[in-house]
Amino acid sequence: MNTVRAFIAAEIEPEVRNRIAELLNRLQACPMKVRWVPPENLHWTLQFLGEVELTQTAEVCQHITAVAAGSRPFDIQAQGIGAFPRLERPRTVWLGANDGAEAMVTLAERLQDRLAQLGFAGESRRFTPHLTLGRVREAHRAAHLADWLEPHLAFDAGTMHIDQMVLFSSRLESGGPVYEPLGRAALDGTGV
Ligand code: 2AM
Repeated sequence: MNTVRAFIAAEIEPEVRNRIAELLNRLQACPMKVRWVPPENLHWTLQFLGEVELTQTAEVCQHITAVAAGSRPFDIQAQGIGAFPRLERPRTVWLGANDGAEAMVTLAERLQDRLAQLGFAGESRRFTPHLTLGRVREAHRAAHLADWLEPHLAFDAGTMHIDQMVLFSSRLESGGPVYEPLGRAALDGTGV
C-alpha cells in the first residue's frame, strides 16, 4: 500500500519563529538529552492523521477545504511553556496558546468532526493548542528539565494571524523529520 504519514497544521509567522528560535538557543544549553525541534519545523498541529493512502490525499484536502471555507481567520498568541504529561515530569515540552486559543480549539474540533467522515479517528483527549519545542529522551531526569524551564514559563513569542491550514507529509530522515506541504486551504472569513 502506498501511504504517506500526514498531519494538518497551521504555520507560524517568521517573527514568532525567530523569537522561539532564540528561546530554543537558551534551552539548548540545558545539560539533558532533549530532542529540540529545529525552528523550521515548528507548527501548530491541528490533527495528526497517521498513514494516509496516496489515493486518498485529494479527498482529505477537499474536506480540509470545506472546513476552512466555513471558518474565520483568527489571531493567536504563542505564550506560556507547558509539558505533557505535566510540567513536573515533562516528556514533550511545548509553547502554548493564550489569547485566541479557543478559536484554534474550535477549528481543530470542526476538522476532527469532518475527518471522522473519512474514518480518521481523532484524539480522545481534549485538544490543547501547542507548538512542540522538544521531546525528552531521559525521562528519569525530567525533574531537572522542569527546573531549567522555570525562568521561561511565561515566555511570550507574540501574536500571529492564522488564515490557512496546511496538510503536511512527514518523512523520517536520519537528521529528523522532514515536513512537506501537500495542500493548503484558506480560512475564508465566511465562518459561523
Ligand atoms: P506533537 O507536536 O504534539 O508531538 C508531526 O509529527 C506532528 O504530528 C507533530 O506535531 C506531532 O504532535 C503530531 N504527531 C505525531 N505523531 C503523533 C501521534 N502518534 N499521535 C498524535 N499526534 C502525533
